Amino acid sequence: MSVYWGQNSYGATHSDVANFQKPLAFYCQDDAIDVVPVAFLDVFFGPGNVPSINLANTCNSADNATFAGTNLPICTSVGTDIKACQAKGKIVTLSLGGAGGSVGFSSDSQAQTLADTIWNIFLGGSSPTRPFGDAVLDGVDLDIEGGSGTGYVAFINRLRTHTDAASKKYYFTAAPQCPFPDASLGSVLDAASFDAVYVQFYNNVCGLQNFNLAQDWNFGLWDFWARNTSPNKDVKIYIGAPASSTAAGTGYQTIDTLTNIAVTMRKSFPSFGGVMMWDASQAFANSRYDLAVKNALSAAGGTGFTFPACSAPAFMSGTNYQGGSKVSFGGYIWQAKFFASSTPVNTPNGEWSAISACTGSPPTSSSSAPPSGPTGGSCASVAAWSSTSVYTGGQQVAYGGHLWTAKWWTQGDTPGGSAGVWTDNGACSANKVQKQESEGMRLLQ
Ligand SMILES: *[C@@H]1O[C@H](CO)[C@@H](O)[C@H](O)[C@H]1NC(C)=O
Repeated sequence: MSVYWGQNSYGATHSDVANFQKPLAFYCQDDAIDVVPVAFLDVFFGPGNVPSINLANTCNSADNATFAGTNLPICTSVGTDIKACQAKGKIVTLSLGGAGGSVGFSSDSQAQTLADTIWNIFLGGSSPTRPFGDAVLDGVDLDIEGGSGTGYVAFINRLRTHTDAASKKYYFTAAPQCPFPDASLGSVLDAASFDAVYVQFYNNVCGLQNFNLAQDWNFGLWDFWARNTSPNKDVKIYIGAPASSTAAGTGYQTIDTLTNIAVTMRKSFPSFGGVMMWDASQAFANSRYDLAVKNALSAAGGTGFTFPACSAPAFMSGTNYQGGSKVSFGGYIWQAKFFASSTPVNTPNGEWSAISACTGSPPTSSSSAPPSGPTGGSCASVAAWSSTSVYTGGQQVAYGGHLWTAKWWTQGDTPGGSAGVWTDNGACSANKVQKQESEGMRLLQ
C-alpha cells in the first residue's frame, strides 16, 4: 500500500479544517501504509538553480522560511516525521512533478545536474541546504504529468550511480496515467530501470470504473510491458486508485470493489505489486479508506504468485471471434474487445485484451467451447452505418455487406473511406443471428 502525502488533496475542495492534511507521522501510526511518496518537488530549477518543494499546508516557500537565495523551504519537522515513519518500517520517497509542476529538462546534462542536487539535498549526499535536515529519503518517484520525456532517463541513470554505490537500498518509482504508453513517461519507462510503477487508473477511460470492460481495462498491457519491455523485468505494477470520490474525477470504487479488483489482478498477473492511493488526506477523511482496503487485502491472503492454467481454448488463426470470446495465446488468456479476427497482440488499440497471464497447454476448442465462440461475421444485430451518428472506438456498424469497427471517435467518415477510421471485419450476412435463434428454438422444443 503506497499512499501519497503532501498535497492536502482533501483540503483543496473542502472547508472542514479538522480533515485537512496532518503532519506526515500522523499517517504512519498503524500498518495501513507501507510506502509514502512525499508530494511534490514541483520546481526543478528555481532561484539559485536549486529545486523547490511544496507540501501544501505543511510546508511551502510562501509560508515557511527558505534557504537564502532559494525558494527551498526549511521543513525541519517533516524531517523528524520522515525518520519516525522509517522507524516504523515504512519507505518514504520524494515525488517529483505533480499536475501543476514546473518540471522538465532541455538536455541530459541538465537532468544529471538535478540528479546530483537531489542526491545531495534529499538522499545520501550532503549539502548545507537540506529541507529535511539529516533525514535521508528512500528514493524518488516521477509523477510527471506534462511535457516531454527528455532527460529523465539520464536523470534516473545518474541518480542510480549514487544509490548503487550506497549501502542503503533506494527505490525508484513512476506514476504514469493508465493510457498506454504514457504521454510523458512512455519512452522513459522503456529505457530506465524502475522498481515499481504506480499506474493512475483514474481520470481516464481505462480507469477502475471500467474494470469490467475488456476494451477499456488495460492492466494486461502494463503486465506485458513489465515482463517484456521494462529494463527491470521484475518491476511491480500497482493499481493507482483515488482514496475518495472527491480525490479524482472518475475511478473511485467502494472498498469491496477495489479489493476485488486488486485480488483479481494479483491472481492474474505476476507483475502485480499492490495498491497506490491519492492521497493520505482523502483516505483519512473517507473513514480510513486506506486502512479498510489494506485490511481487506490482508484478509484475502496470498502473497506468492501461481500462474493460472491457460483454461481458454487455443487461439485459432483465420477464425472470426465475437466480442467477449476468450482464447489462450502466448502465455496469456485474451478477451476479444469486439469482433476479432487477428492474432492477439498487446497493443493499446488491438482487438484483444490480455485478461490473465497463464501457463500450460490450452484445451482444444472442441472440448471446451467458449461461451461466445467463433462465428461467421453476422450483421444482424449491428446497426447500419449512419453519416450523422457519432461513433467511439470499438463501436460496430454494418455497411456495404461488411462489418466495420470504429478505431476511435468518428462522425461522417464512410467505412472504407480515405479517413481510415474503420477496421474492416469482413463480409457479413444479415440473417445469421435469426438462424441461430431458430435452431435454439428447435432445441428447446
Ligand atoms: C510552515 O508554515 C506554516 C504556517 O506558518 C506552519 O503552520 C508550519 O508549521 C510550517 N511548517 C514547518 C515544517 O515548519
